[in-house]
Amino acid sequence: MSDADGLPGRHASPWLANAPETTYDSLDGDATTESVVVGGGIAGLTTATLLAEGGRDVVLLERDRVGGGVTGRSTAKVTSQHGFQYATLERRHGSETARKYGLANQRAVQFVADRVESFDVDCRLERQPAFAMTDATAEIPTVRREVRASQRAGLPATLVEDGPADAVAGVRFADQLQFDPQRYLLALADAFVDAGGHLFEGTRVTDVDGGAPCRVETESGSVTASDVVLATHFPLLDRAGYFARQYPKRSYVLAVRADDPPTDGMYYWPGETYRSTRTAEVDGETLTLVGGQNHKTGQGGRTRDRYRRLESAARERFDVEDVVYRWSTQDYVSVDGIPYVGRLGAFASNVYAATGFGGWGMSNGTAAGLSIAGTILDRPEEWADAFDPLRVTVLSSVRELSAESANVARRFVGDWAEGLATTGDRLGRDEATVRRRGTDVLGVYRDEDGEDHVVDAVCPHMGCLVQWNDGERSWDCPCHGSRFAVDGRVLDGPATEDLPTEPSEDRSPE
Ligand SMILES: Cc1cc2nc3c(=O)[nH]c(=O)nc-3n(C[C@H](O)[C@H](O)[C@H](O)COP(=O)(O)OP(=O)(O)OC[C@H]3O[C@@H](n4cnc5c(N)ncnc54)[C@H](O)[C@@H]3O)c2cc1C
Ligand code: FES
Repeated sequence: MSDADGLPGRHASPWLANAPETTYDSLDGDATTESVVVGGGIAGLTTATLLAEGGRDVVLLERDRVGGGVTGRSTAKVTSQHGFQYATLERRHGSETARKYGLANQRAVQFVADRVESFDVDCRLERQPAFAMTDATAEIPTVRREVRASQRAGLPATLVEDGPADAVAGVRFADQLQFDPQRYLLALADAFVDAGGHLFEGTRVTDVDGGAPCRVETESGSVTASDVVLATHFPLLDRAGYFARQYPKRSYVLAVRADDPPTDGMYYWPGETYRSTRTAEVDGETLTLVGGQNHKTGQGGRTRDRYRRLESAARERFDVEDVVYRWSTQDYVSVDGIPYVGRLGAFASNVYAATGFGGWGMSNGTAAGLSIAGTILDRPEEWADAFDPLRVTVLSSVRELSAESANVARRFVGDWAEGLATTGDRLGRDEATVRRRGTDVLGVYRDEDGEDHVVDAVCPHMGCLVQWNDGERSWDCPCHGSRFAVDGRVLDGPATEDLPTEPSEDRSPE
């Protein structure tokens, strides 16, 4: 099956497409509470629920709908197995930090299992082993080192010496989980409200004052509170300089109907050309999810081609009858391999952030919720210091920091707007371009009916030039991952303002 774009499958996450819609009201006016949590993804809802259950008065503010961010588009393996991670963590941060990272993520796996058991909702939870595999004989020593490091971190790791397709070795973690993340979030939202929490959807936070008390501004009122938790994927208040300490990585997923689905676990091939597979029960049938084709946001070239390449890879590996869904989303990767979770310190001592989950936010985001709620409720988790946003290892990751800064510096508007065309591009239907008009730089998308949609192409976050993403029909910023719809509306990332729109230009002849 393919859609009007000639791309495979329906363009939607199966979790969002098959879940009931939420109907929480928007904030209307000012309010005062004890804790405000911003963001209704897995990190925000876990934190908010635990705080409300711990006896605090809590307001949760969500810009769109619960799960409408990355969580509702995840492949949703809930595991402490994050590729060949533990040997690297030991080398860079020491064995105690590797142990704490593993402990936090294993606790998260257990937390999700316990919660799902307590919910009267079918979250399609399944226990499965998680594998990280390699096809390269030269990587077998890496795999062996990873098994030993994982075991030292107290994790249920064993070596496997063969595997599916061309795998030659891998690490197996016993007793991990996969589930439907949207049904889980909806159940968490119910638990939050049952515990006395106040949930507002359709409420965009525009500013945060981290003083005492804190004040959170939205488009429809403000909330005053003792503390604020920023679980917005990329923290809104960026006094700690997150924009320089993590980068956004997009990846692509297909849900395929295959005659030979993987039956014995969730698989992951780490590295530059990563691949990921698991099964999922969707609408009464078993689909196989195949992920891959990652790239830095706004730097992926023609993203429609990425869907096509992923389809070819899926067909090479599985006996694919049909592609049922396709979607893509993004996650932030920290420069030293550990998420940033906790208090922003002297910058704003009553403000907490949770970000940089590196593609593993089902467990890392849950652990973040446990950790932040534990700190606010005065029963801190023993792993909290390993995730401290102000830890020194971030500053000592000089090589990664400067590589990231150089990558960003190349994208600022002043540097290369000069080289852009002015008018006269021969823009076809369903095509877009970035062009100059006098001192302005415009993004022009011509839709299927031939109508032009024009936005200011300068990202309101810090002034980089947005790029066209043809696979999602969005304007994506290559610097820190803000994304905008064709009408300029913010979809993702640190930007809190939309791209200004412009009246349609006179069209050049096709
Ligand atoms: C393709 C892909 C597959 C993945 N698969 C896995 C996997 O198998 N296992 C795993 O562990 N992890 C996986 N991840 C990572 C995981 O999905 C994420 O780390 C996690 O969902 C992030 O959760 P979050 O709560 O931080 O963010 P989100 O779910 O994005 O929640 C943030 C929320 O904040 C809201 N928000 C943003 N700005 C504002 C504002 N100004 N005002 C109010 N609200 C705002 C957003 O609307 C959003 O709902 C995957 C990531 C990708 C890209
Ligand atoms: S300049 Fe930072 S996201 Fe665009």
